[in-house]
Amino acid sequence: MASKTTILLVALALLLPFGYERGQVASLFWSNAPHRLVKTNTFASHEIKFSDSIRSCEDALLVESQGIAILGCDPGRERWNTVMGIFLPEPVDSGRLYIFDYKKTGTSDNEALKQLKFIDFKFESDFHSLGMAYDESTSTLLVSSHRHDFPAIEMFQLDLEEYTATHLRSIRHPLIHGPNSIVLINEHEFLVTNDHYFLVQDHPILSRLETNLGFPGGSVVHVDISPVLADPTASAQATIVARLAFANGVELLNETTVAISSSSKFRVYLFSINRDTSSGTPELIPMSNFRVPFSPDNLSVSKDGALLIAGHPHPPSLGKFAATRHVCNAPGELAKADDGVRKTCKTLSAPSWAAKWTEDGGFQTLYADVEYPTSATATWDSDRGVGIISGLYAKGILVWRN
Ligand SMILES: *[C@@H]1O[C@H](CO)[C@@H](O)[C@H](O)[C@H]1NC(C)=O
Ligand SMILES: *[C@@H]1O[C@H](CO)[C@@H](O)[C@H](O)[C@H]1NC(C)=O
Repeated sequence: MASKTTILLVALALLLPFGYERGQVASLFWSNAPHRLVKTNTFASHEIKFSDSIRSCEDALLVESQGIAILGCDPGRERWNTVMGIFLPEPVDSGRLYIFDYKKTGTSDNEALKQLKFIDFKFESDFHSLGMAYDESTSTLLVSSHRHDFPAIEMFQLDLEEYTATHLRSIRHPLIHGPNSIVLINEHEFLVTNDHYFLVQDHPILSRLETNLGFPGGSVVHVDISPVLADPTASAQATIVARLAFANGVELLNETTVAISSSSKFRVYLFSINRDTSSGTPELIPMSNFRVPFSPDNLSVSKDGALLIAGHPHPPSLGKFAATRHVCNAPGELAKADDGVRKTCKTLSAPSWAAKWTEDGGFQTLYADVEYPTSATATWDSDRGVGIISGLYAKGILVWRN
């Protein structure tokens, strides 16, 4: 009897920290519900732009030297989302790339937003963009794409005067099975996150368990594409350098520190990066981590050294929002839908939360609201005082000026 109690007590003691942590996350599911969320808006001015022309832009990437942002927008995410598990039959729209010139205020939408024309891109009709990274010195853009066959990192050469994206290569590797965010180390090395070990497409139950239990199945992969650059038929070199639960955004905070968000832990992890190893593959050494009051999605770093974190305060609302967009955003489907669904389309909101973090200043909320839904990325041009929030399932982008 006594030993059974002991075993029970030991088991409880072991599970307690786990339960406490998951409990803290669960309590946010209550306090962050759209009608309870404490709204915050620190922007001097903001507007939602291009809501009639683009939607589901997960990525916004600043090219500050030119005052432009590269946007990756995939309306097809309404029917095909390999991270959240939406697999509806064809036809599925495909993703597009845009250039938003944010330098001047008062330009017409047509002038400010240009779509990039793809050249030689065989997979154009099956392009489902997630994270992107841009190397200004070579005008090369890398984009994670969740193609139907197997994901790839598509490599393009951009011409920002002619507004073209010429496809160069598709980088594929067994270790890059669910690519999400990318950060460049130099012109031939980058880090990419795989959000899960179990892909929801192949293992729906295990994938959900992995998310809900906060199991560290996600990975950070170091990729060296020098072999591919030399010979297009060669394969890239890839190595797993860290594992964490639902690894999502990845950014270099500075030369020696990498920040990675864990969407299921509601935490951002900092690693120091040691690039001076005998194998040539960098080492990521865990440094510290901090909690955020939402499920962090993507990260970006501004020139003034702040880490910008955007994410989802209320994942259940995000799930419902994501699952209904293929009806709400398609007039034909909406006309056929029953009253319940039509009401949902009108009333459902999925809040956004964007914040910044610095070592000295700590965590500071910039925006928490339902006006602009499903924030995935926040970026900030600190010289020009312009910021952008892009939403996973939002119409248009939010642009703020301070
Ligand atoms: C996250 O933001 C970074 C920096 O702005 C950008 O490079 C990347 O494309 C974004 N990734 C995702 C998954 O949205
Ligand atoms: C990089 O950023 C980290 C986290 O803010 C900080 O602790 C570290 O001192 C920084 N390193 C350099 C070289 O600036």
